Amino acid sequence: MRTLISNGLVVTADGSYPADVLVDGETIALVGADLAGRGVTADETIDATGKYVVPGGIDVHTHFELPFGGTVAKDTFESGTKAAAHGGTTTIIDFAAQARGRPLREGLDTWHAKAEGHAVIDFGFHMMMGDVNDGTLAEMDGLVADGVTTFKLFTAYPGVLYSPDDHIFRAMLRSRDNGGLILMHAENGPVIDVIAAALVAAGTTDPIGHGLARYPILEGEATNRVIRLAEAAGVPVYIVHLTSRDALEAVTAARDRGAMAFAETCPQYLFLSLDDLGNGFEGAKYVCSPPLRPKDHQADLWRGLLKGDLQAVGTDHCPFDFHGQKELGRGDFRKIPNGLPAVEDRVDLIHQGGVVEGRLSRERWVEVISTAPAKIFGMYPKKGAIAVGSDADLLVFDPNRKRTISAATHHMAVDYSIFEGFEVQGTSDVVMSRGTVLVRDGAWVGPAGHGRFVRRAPADFVRLA
Ligand code: URP
Ligand code: ZN
Ligand code: ZN
Repeated sequence: MRTLISNGLVVTADGSYPADVLVDGETIALVGADLAGRGVTADETIDATGKYVVPGGIDVHTHFELPFGGTVAKDTFESGTKAAAHGGTTTIIDFAAQARGRPLREGLDTWHAKAEGHAVIDFGFHMMMGDVNDGTLAEMDGLVADGVTTFKLFTAYPGVLYSPDDHIFRAMLRSRDNGGLILMHAENGPVIDVIAAALVAAGTTDPIGHGLARYPILEGEATNRVIRLAEAAGVPVYIVHLTSRDALEAVTAARDRGAMAFAETCPQYLFLSLDDLGNGFEGAKYVCSPPLRPKDHQADLWRGLLKGDLQAVGTDHCPFDFHGQKELGRGDFRKIPNGLPAVEDRVDLIHQGGVVEGRLSRERWVEVISTAPAKIFGMYPKKGAIAVGSDADLLVFDPNRKRTISAATHHMAVDYSIFEGFEVQGTSDVVMSRGTVLVRDGAWVGPAGHGRFVRRAPADFVRLA
């Protein structure tokens, strides 16, 4: 099957130029001016006049079917990847979870079983390590060899996923030898627990307490600490879901002294704020960790994306219904399952807040939603590029079409939207994954179970960048 995408403006991280794109089978076969006029034929032609042609979005931070906070994240690999595709994301990396006391491999096998045959877009896995010991450290090497090259550790969630500094350091040392990359959830969990307990004892039990307890300075402190540990180990480190000026300052300072520190932020931290956690128990819809911050942090995060101290935007998509799941925390904010739905809206929101509102160039938009994640996570140029031989993961993106985000129309399996009523300008007319059109004009037209596991390369880019 050959598809010609004609007359579009190809937008990549490197530049924009008018060109046709010929897709042959699963990959890009040709990129050039007026291919049809030069005799190139195809089975189907998609007219992209007035549209951008961009690499499919890559969301490197999702949690589908994750057991967490006494319940299970609502999206399955089928519903979650379908929602991602509707929003212009053609690859996700989900976090496989190790059950405490069990081998990493068992957790990874469980995640493969959840995804294979169900995911409709390509997927990779990170491994969440709750237990660092001689056995799991040795297991890391085999996972890297099998394309699961990234390991998330936590300075948050004491008693659940928390690792002390010496465990983090040992995992970092191992990653130095096996080519893996350590991802850090950086907040000072033990101190937060002290503050949260005091708030509850003083009568603050509503969701706002979640935001009040988790001081930005405690994210800044933990971010600086884990970067320093990485420097001591001589390895790169990637900070997930960075939310605050305090944490960004730690990353910027590290990069300025030449440390291999990388970080992502998420749409919720760029568009929402601590105010959303108010409004009584309604605020439970916005409970995630680290929490939403006072509004004035947003400009710093956008500046971080512009200047390159933040390299990527992931979603940390971890959806729980308001009814029946978030409600587990009525009367004690500490029991509200942490996480938000966002996988469907990332590409369009960053176009809106970045390109339409004048904070990022369209090339930088493509970089933070696709190309940089592909490079950092060992998938480039198979993913994240419009180049001969790359996977034909492509969006025909209309930069002018407007849509209003709503739970009434979204495809995520969750009963509310954190961006309800937001209007965005710019959305995908066509979403293609490896040459197969999945979404056309908002309607699902793709096959079931189309997604394939992406075996990722060791993280060389972050050692060289
Ligand atoms: O609130 C969050 N972020 N839930 C998902 C788990 C994590 O820490 O990423
Ligand atoms: Zn986390
Ligand atoms: Zn997460």
